[in-house]
Parts: sequence; structure tokens; C-alpha cells
Amino acid sequence: MDHEIKSLDIGTMHVISASVSADCRIRFKKIRNAFLKIHVEQSMSQFLKQEELQYAEIGEDLYALGDSAFKMAGITGKDVSRPMQDGVLNPKEPRAEIILKLLIEALVGKAQGEGAICYYSIPAEPFQREKRVIYHSGIIHTILEDLGYKAVAVNEGLAVIYSGLADRHFTGIGISCGCGLINVCLSRKAQVLDAFAIDRAGDWIDDNASKAIGEPAHKVMLVKEGGLNLLSPQDRTENALAIYYKDLIQYVVECIKDRWHDSGRVSHFDGPVNIVCAGGTALPAGFIAILRSELKKARFPLRVDQVSLAKDPLYAIARGCLIGAVNDGSSHFIRQCAAHRRTACRPKKPSPAVKKPRSRPKARPRRIKRS
Ligand SMILES: Nc1ncnc2c1ncn2[C@@H]1O[C@H](COP(=O)(O)OP(=O)(O)OP(=O)(O)O)[C@@H](O)[C@H]1O
Ligand SMILES: [Mg+2]
Repeated sequence: MDHEIKSLDIGTMHVISASVSADCRIRFKKIRNAFLKIHVEQSMSQFLKQEELQYAEIGEDLYALGDSAFKMAGITGKDVSRPMQDGVLNPKEPRAEIILKLLIEALVGKAQGEGAICYYSIPAEPFQREKRVIYHSGIIHTILEDLGYKAVAVNEGLAVIYSGLADRHFTGIGISCGCGLINVCLSRKAQVLDAFAIDRAGDWIDDNASKAIGEPAHKVMLVKEGGLNLLSPQDRTENALAIYYKDLIQYVVECIKDRWHDSGRVSHFDGPVNIVCAGGTALPAGFIAILRSELKKARFPLRVDQVSLAKDPLYAIARGCLIGAVNDGSSHFIRQCAAHRRTACRPKKPSPAVKKPRSRPKARPRRIKRS
């Protein structure tokens, strides 16, 4: 390969990178987008070294990063801090930029040589919100350029289409169901006809279910991530989650209807379109069945054929961004992949074997300075 090709899905809950190895396989790394300030005592310093936790020193302070922040939160009983909120950099968090830079560097590292490229996901701007995506994207662009990459932003919903609708010539609807936002994209032959975001997603479900039943939001989230079936909730918490999930799915269908009703955007389609969903919030069993049923009930402005979940939904956006990067001007790379194996890494066959990320991404451990 003559230059590096990487991608990043930068989300409120997870930052996920993807890259192509010399044998044309996609390799992923994932880290929680979180940090926690910790107090260094002798015992703590030993503990950090023994546990190989990821941490960084910023000024006088020490921070556990990513998954290590959650581990430390479990031990200390504190809540983690998040660099992002509602899909973009958290305006109330002064350390957001610096922490995100550390997390991104831990995943993609410095570019090796000339011509390295990194495509990264950005959300669409939610309705009636000030233009925060511009700042968010500008900061990520600078972080990647400082690391030596040519940085290119990809709409998150379009990345889902790259990942899941290759066999439909990148035509249809991609929905990324994340933590802070739901991103919707309508595309015809990879051309975006419309992209918008809805500012209700996984966090909204956790907060509302938690308030309804008087349980802490992080406990509710653990139940949600622990194998929830929306069609057969087993207890009070699961029942509350299922109720808010259904409400969210109905809301998403209504938002799309309102936006595309009477809109010229849908007149480009003669036949039915496919819908593909990705992201952590689309994972519970029953999600696609409820979405199908709500679409049937609604007077949806487009005829819908199949509604499906992307392969490896949590990794689909990073994979889609990578497909965008590979498709963009690397004919040498594509030839090399084609020579390697006949299933070339072209966008039309976007899914080479996936290697699951290691449970704990490796970052260079940093030494603790004790004053
Ligand atoms: N197995 C699961 N079942 C249900 N929800 C899950 C599961 N795993 C993760 N989630 C939820 O999915 C959300 C995270 O998904 P994802 O990583 O796609 O979001 P993100 O990209 O970080 O956020 P955003 O795109 O909104 O900025 C969180 O709300 C998390 O609780
Ligand atoms: Mg996301």
C-alpha cells in the first residue's frame, strides 16, 4: 500500500477507528469517549500500573481515559465526564478538545509518511439548533491534520449507506441511531438528497426511563446494553426502556415524514427504497420489527422495501467512512487489494472480514509524575 487509509467514527459514547491491513482486511479499534479526573495517591499509582489503565496527565491533574474512566468510575463511585454531548463537542466541558485529541491519537496514531488520509464522521445539524457541528468538525479536522492526515468529513447517515446499501448502488435511507443523536440520510447513487439529525437517542431513553422509575441512569443503561428484547421486556426497568424505545421510534418516523412530506427530494425515486439502520441504539432485539410496524402505520412519503440492520451495527459508521476513503482516489490501493484477493475492497463489496477489536485498546501508558 503506498499510503495509509484510515477512518474514525467520532460519537458521543464511542470513538471507533477502522483501517485496512496489507491483506485487505478491515481492523477496528474502539474506545469509550469519556474521562475521569483521579487523585494520585501511592496506592493509586501502583494500581494504575498494575491494571494497565489508560491515563494522561494534563497540567497538574491526572485523568483516566476511555474504558479506563468507566473502570475507575465503578471503583470510586464517581460519574465519568464526557468530551461530547448531543453528537458534538460538549460546550460545558473546557477539557473536551484536549481529551478528544488524546483519544483520537490513541486510536489512529501519527500518520506514517506522506499522503495518509483519514475520513471522519460528522453528524448533520439537528433541527432548530445553533450551528455547533461547524466548530466540532473544525476541531477534529485540525486534530487529524496535526497528526499528519489529510482529513475529510463524511456525513454520519451517508456512512451508514456506504456501509449497508452497496448492493443498492448507495441509494436509499441510512439511519445512525447513536447516543446523542439519530442521523438520517436520503441518498441516490451516493449523492445526498437530504441529511438531518434528531436530538433524541440512547441518552434520551436512559434519562427518561430513569426518571420514570426512579433508578439511576447508568443502571438503566446497563440493563439496556445487557441484551434487552423490546418485544418481551422482563421486568420494570426493561418495560420502561421498551416504552421509551417505542416512543422514540414513532418520533423518528414522524420527523422523517414531516421533513419529506411535500418535498421535492422524494420525487427522485420511482420504486421503493431500502432502509438500513446502524449504531448502538439500534442493537436491541425487536428494534427493526418496531420500526417496520411504525412505517406501515404511518403515511410515509416514500415506498419502503426492506428495513434492516447493518452488519456489525456499532462498527458500520467507521466502516462506511473507510469505504468513502478507499473509494476516493486510491486506484493504486484498489488494484493492490484486487491482486491480493479477488474480493477487492471496492465500495460495491464493502465488507471484508471483520476483526473484532481487542477489549482494551492499547495506548502508550504514561508515567505518573508525583509532586
Ligand atoms: N447492546 C446495546 N443495546 C442497546 N443499546 C446499546 C447497546 N450497546 C450500546 N448501546 C447504546 O448505544 C449508544 C451508543 O451508540 P453509538 O456508539 O452508535 O453512539 P455514538 O456514535 O457514540 O453517539 P452519537 O452518534 O449520537 O454521537 C448508547 O446510548 C449506548 O447505551
Ligand atoms: Mg454515532
